[in-house]
Amino acid sequence: MPAPATTSFLLPAEAVEKLESLVLQIEANPGSMISPSEYIGLEDRLDIKAVIADLPEGITTEDFAGILKLALLTECATESYSAVFEECAQTYDAAWIGRFTERVWTPDELTHYVPYKLILMNLGFSEAELDRKVQETRDRQYVHGGGKDPVQLTTFGMIQECLTDSWHGLIGNLLAKSAPEAAFIVRRVKRRETLHAVWYRQMTAIQLGANPRLVSEVAGEICTFDMPSVSLVPEFQSEALRWQELMGGNWEAIYRDLIRYVAEALGDVRLLGELGLLVATANKKLALFPTGLAARVLLPLGGLCHELMGEALLHRAQLSYLYQKKDDTGPTSMYGTMLDRIRATTRSTMAGMIPPARDLMQNI
Ligand SMILES: [Fe+2]
Ligand SMILES: [Fe+2]
Repeated sequence: MPAPATTSFLLPAEAVEKLESLVLQIEANPGSMISPSEYIGLEDRLDIKAVIADLPEGITTEDFAGILKLALLTECATESYSAVFEECAQTYDAAWIGRFTERVWTPDELTHYVPYKLILMNLGFSEAELDRKVQETRDRQYVHGGGKDPVQLTTFGMIQECLTDSWHGLIGNLLAKSAPEAAFIVRRVKRRETLHAVWYRQMTAIQLGANPRLVSEVAGEICTFDMPSVSLVPEFQSEALRWQELMGGNWEAIYRDLIRYVAEALGDVRLLGELGLLVATANKKLALFPTGLAARVLLPLGGLCHELMGEALLHRAQLSYLYQKKDDTGPTSMYGTMLDRIRATTRSTMAGMIPPARDLMQNI
């Protein structure tokens, strides 16, 4: 018997219908899923050792193997993650999320660890050793630190897929020059993660569209977010940030991608501002920044304050086009121009209070 729902999560019937219809569409057109036949003979065609000679400064052979193992071991634990989504489907009677997980997401994800195994074998690691590591990781308990209602899980999925997408992209760049075929297959995986992030964004958007007060659940999920590798492969995850920087990972670009996904999921700049203020207010580490203190003042004010905060978040991420209206460039009265100037100054001041992306992402 399903466990009782632990929050007041509720969606109107029309939203559930939309979610069911979205999942049916995804099922009918899941895009170009990777076929296991694409991996046949791949290991023999690779020359990953050529990449070693060409690694960017600061990345040792050991780092390179660790980067690949982190991808392998994070990807191999698909079933640990799908169990959380399936439990949610049961608990919240959300057949759509169960159907998506079981019929699309899991079979898709199950193909993602294989290229990393082949790349590592080509690099000299034995299949038996890699299989043992994979089994050890699958046997570990995945600790899902966030909430488990549908909007919390689709938010988690959206963020997790976006960050995984970035990781595969950085590895693809490392491989591109000396092992183009390996880069091609890693980028195939990357494109699947992009699609997953988009699907989770669409699911989150439908739920928020039906019940904008779910914004507090989205904020809570952002505050408690951890990559699954934190509990599954802590020995590699502890190096992930250093590796990300060595591979040329750009914090501001990752921040921009995340803000864009979240803004589009919320579908409303005012709600985005409220979300930013909720996160800044709830997060103890952010309280050390002026943002945390200002958020406590701005959150209860609502309305225009939330709207300007939403715009500031977009402005800071160089996504101003997401709030600028088409008629912004048209003729305006002197009064209108003055208000626009005050608004722009306030927005820039708020944007200036948002810490650098590196500090933000390491502290949330
Ligand atoms: Fe994956
Ligand atoms: Fe994925």
